[in-house]
Amino acid sequence: MRPSVSVVILAAGLGTRMKSKRAKVLHRAGGLSLIEHVVRAARRIADASNITVVVGHQAEEVERLLSPVGVQFARQTEQKGTGHAVMASRDSLAGRGGLVVILYGDCPLISPATLEELVDRQASGAAAATVITTQLDDPSGYGRMIFDAHGNVEAIVEHKAATPEQLKIRFINSGIYCFRAELLWKHIPEIRPDNAAQEYYLTDIVQILKCAGHQVAAMDVADARELLGINTRAELADADRIFRERKVQELMRDGVTIEKPETVTIDLCVTVGPDTVIEPFAQILGQSEIGEDCRIGSCSIIKDSVLASSVEIAPFVSVVDSRIESGAQIGPFARLRGGNSVGAKARIGNFVELKNTKFGAGAKANHLAYLGDAEVGAHTNVGAGTITCNYDGVAKHRTRIGRDAFVGSNSTLVAPLEIGDGSYIGAGSVITDPVPPDALALGRTRQVVKEGWALKRKAKK
Ligand code: UD1
Ligand code: CA
Repeated sequence: MRPSVSVVILAAGLGTRMKSKRAKVLHRAGGLSLIEHVVRAARRIADASNITVVVGHQAEEVERLLSPVGVQFARQTEQKGTGHAVMASRDSLAGRGGLVVILYGDCPLISPATLEELVDRQASGAAAATVITTQLDDPSGYGRMIFDAHGNVEAIVEHKAATPEQLKIRFINSGIYCFRAELLWKHIPEIRPDNAAQEYYLTDIVQILKCAGHQVAAMDVADARELLGINTRAELADADRIFRERKVQELMRDGVTIEKPETVTIDLCVTVGPDTVIEPFAQILGQSEIGEDCRIGSCSIIKDSVLASSVEIAPFVSVVDSRIESGAQIGPFARLRGGNSVGAKARIGNFVELKNTKFGAGAKANHLAYLGDAEVGAHTNVGAGTITCNYDGVAKHRTRIGRDAFVGSNSTLVAPLEIGDGSYIGAGSVITDPVPPDALALGRTRQVVKEGWALKRKAKK
């Protein structure tokens, strides 16, 4: 039987090299913050209640982000190094034996499968700890692994402290470890801040364990990309690229067509049904769900929205926080700002903006309209240039248009307003009063024609 596993995630540092006001672990890649990625991976080897996140810089923000997941928190008020941070988690894990996996909050690409293998190796071996390593062509910045003749880890030397000989070592410390709990807690107080930075380096525990007669094993991971540590904005961009590449590969495997996949941006939590086509430079973000047989046009942005099946989004459309039913066609150049639901087979054309609007099945607004805080019934036609005047300078009001109605072009609908089923609004009307079902409403001055007026004017000159 596998021993119990606790996880400690270090996330207290500011991340000076990011040159940011925001704590490093709150920066985002692939649509989630770095720390969210690490917690997601950790949950595959431990229950949320057995995961402790060590927080310090912007602790409140990190805690707010992760509290819903149910993880534990430990505060490290002064950032005195990775060893010091692990010490800070000690009380939160008090009394729990078994294994402790340590993860750094700035290593978001680690796969759950690798973590499972780490735990299995540690559980089945005799070592006090197992450290994940890999070989890098350019190991700059990382701690270097010093092995003994048997392939066990003798020491980890930080880049800053390494000799020119040691700098040539291409095996790096990933910052991912699995310890036997009782040995970690017994020996961690022995770490001393005796280095140039005067920090408590967790990596020093390797030598400490060694001196106490224990062995530290290494686990070599072939895919170095999993172990990328994010210290700079350039590395953040690398991680983002890797996440997005993984995501499009996964979607294509599951039957989604993606044209020029290197150009699209799809967040990790997005789902897409089979036979949907995603055109170049599309972005699908947040918690979006796209059904099957849809098309997402080039340069369109879909965020936190649900599209049923066979929805056509033409190029240059922005859809936020909206729901679109099957067979609807949107765009090009349409904007669904939030809180909308668009019915089956409805059509929203170019330069149409919707906000907080329920747009009925089969209804059409094909050109140049603003529909805000509105309801449009099924199969109603909204003419070009129609505007709902939903705001009176103080409060927002609703416009309700029934089904099978016809709103003529360039109509101004002053809310609050009710327009009945089957009614007609004459083009160019300003409508301020309710329109009963099946009526014609005209709200414009009557046209005047003065015969021969132009000829008389010319004759005067
Ligand atoms: C660390 C390792 C290095 C390894 C590399 C892998 C040490 C001493 N060095 O270096 O061997 O190759 O990661 O990416 O461990 N943190 C705290 N409190 C602190 C200091 C750091 O919580 O007092 C957290 C940070 O928020 C960060 C993580 O620990 O998420 C790693 O810290 P960082 O300063 O990035 O370590 P590296 O210099 O990259
Ligand atoms: Ca780092």
